[in-house]
Amino acid sequence: MTQPNMTLIEAIQQRRSVRGFKPDPVPKDVIEDILEQAQLSPSNCNVQPWGVLLASGDACQSLREKMLHAFMHGQNMNPDFSHLPKFEGVMRTRQVECAQALYGAMHIDRGDKIGRMKATARNYEFFGAPHVLFITMKKDFSPSIAVDVGMYAQTLMLLMTAYGIGSCAQASTAYYPNIVREFFNVDEDTGILFGISFGYEDKQVDANNARTNRAPLNEVIIEK
Ligand SMILES: Cc1cc2nc3c(=O)[nH]c(=O)nc-3n(C[C@H](O)[C@H](O)[C@H](O)COP(=O)(O)O)c2cc1C
Repeated sequence: MTQPNMTLIEAIQQRRSVRGFKPDPVPKDVIEDILEQAQLSPSNCNVQPWGVLLASGDACQSLREKMLHAFMHGQNMNPDFSHLPKFEGVMRTRQVECAQALYGAMHIDRGDKIGRMKATARNYEFFGAPHVLFITMKKDFSPSIAVDVGMYAQTLMLLMTAYGIGSCAQASTAYYPNIVREFFNVDEDTGILFGISFGYEDKQVDANNARTNRAPLNEVIIEK
């Protein structure tokens, strides 16, 4: 499919994290079309604070090897932006359910540390995707700017869905920001927020059977 063929509501409903891809590349003109349209995302004062570092084909493969090497050799993780906090209460429950959905789909038992480690390593292989991109913003920007970048990222992933392209946002791939900066030869003040692996979904991959739920509205909306 080279033209999007779904409504916005369908794209919102069908987007989910894809963690196993076919090797087939997405045509360059489709990627450009998606990036062009994602530029329409809103931002405070229209500063458009996001940046994208994109690697395809051999470049993607080379970056995959560097990332996986770093992970397998226990290289120190030093994300530009703070690690996830220790979630408590309902958010901790949701976090555990999310992990259970993924490991359950992959048939990895709770106590299977090696299985979990291998599953984590798949992040650094970009789940076999033929393309990876990194979403960036300046390191000294605050959360008030990060909200713009988040809107951009969701717009991008919904566009991908509309074009039949699977994606997975991956904070894990931002844990080695120096590898990314060196690879793309960008300034030290370019902060790496997260990666997005993308390509055509491989439906044979067990991880792609994982499904997540969402909280009911009464857990998130307060109305007077
Ligand atoms: C900013 C961000 C970072 C994420 N990082 C990872 C990651 O490192 N590895 C991973 O497998 N999934 C990652 N995810 C995917 C989430 O686990 C997923 O979006 C969530 O469980 C909801 O599932 P769904 O995307 O299938 O709807 C990330 C999602 C977001 C938005």
